[in-house]
Amino acid sequence: MANKILVTGATGAIGKALIKELQAKKIPFLAGTRNVEESKAKLGLSDELVHFSFDDPSTFEAATAGVDSVFLLGPAMVLEMDQLINPFLDFLKSKGILRVVYLSALKSEEMGERMSFHLKTEARLEKDGFDYTILKASFFAQNFKNYEWENIMQRGITFATAGDGKVGFIDVADIAATAAAVLTEDGHSKKTYELTGPESLTYFDAAAILTEVTGKTIVYPQPSPEQYIAVLKEAGAPDFVALYMNSVYSVIANHHVGFTTNDVEKVTGKKPNTLKSVISNDFQN
Ligand SMILES: NC(=O)c1ccc[n+]([C@@H]2O[C@H](COP(=O)([O-])OP(=O)(O)OC[C@H]3O[C@@H](n4cnc5c(N)ncnc54)[C@H](OP(=O)(O)O)[C@@H]3O)[C@@H](O)[C@H]2O)c1
Repeated sequence: MANKILVTGATGAIGKALIKELQAKKIPFLAGTRNVEESKAKLGLSDELVHFSFDDPSTFEAATAGVDSVFLLGPAMVLEMDQLINPFLDFLKSKGILRVVYLSALKSEEMGERMSFHLKTEARLEKDGFDYTILKASFFAQNFKNYEWENIMQRGITFATAGDGKVGFIDVADIAATAAAVLTEDGHSKKTYELTGPESLTYFDAAAILTEVTGKTIVYPQPSPEQYIAVLKEAGAPDFVALYMNSVYSVIANHHVGFTTNDVEKVTGKKPNTLKSVISNDFQN
């Protein structure tokens, strides 16, 4: 049972949802951000906000004052993320703060060497004396709103190199509810959970849901990796972005994540939300 939790990635998709869960449970927490002032309005918090950056070890001491558990989330689009996070894990070990709940990705072991950072961090937590829980999350249902909304609303497409593979899109609120439970209840030490939504869907299915919810025709053109790289290059994205995303989507295209689990329900007692309910909610807000 945690006394005080540091939430890293507090201003991100999962972090914001986790903070709501901890507030509802009345669990004390600190919310780590690189920009405290900017985050005040964003999160509606003040005293709980603390300056924290994986790049800046001088922030670690104050960010862990009174903390005995950490929700650890590394930023997206950072290659070698394990190296970014390691100095903070060194610090936690030196302070004896060993309870760490780590947000990883479902089947990251199938994403290739470029994406090995999650596996390396999992391995460190497992072998270096931490009291860990690993949450291996499937693709976020919110990716459509957070990364693809311009494609969807302006171009009428959802653009991913997911082939005809299936994936159990998950609501970030369900990931956050699971994280809150494992951080505040006993029995989750040294466990790994695979978190998915309730149904396994192709991007063709997702396009049909987007069409139904938005009332616009949305298609999934099923681009090849080469077409995807060319389109992102044309749009001015740095080369590594398309390579990173291709590696991520490859687990769908190669049929590694076309399954669902009941881990969310097992931990939270609640069935996870559907992609349609998340998109309907995102579309209204
Ligand atoms: N999207 C998916 O479908 C999916 C699926 C499975 C796993 N994941 C994993 O989920 C993670 C991303 O989660 P998310 O979408 O919630 O993130 P997000 O919305 O992109 O937020 C990232 C957070 O990281 C913080 N941050 C960025 N750089 C930092 C640094 N150097 N030091 C400390 N904090 C930093 C940012 O906070 P400030 O700017 O306030 O500092 C922000 O709150 C990645 O590890 C990704 O691999 C994603």
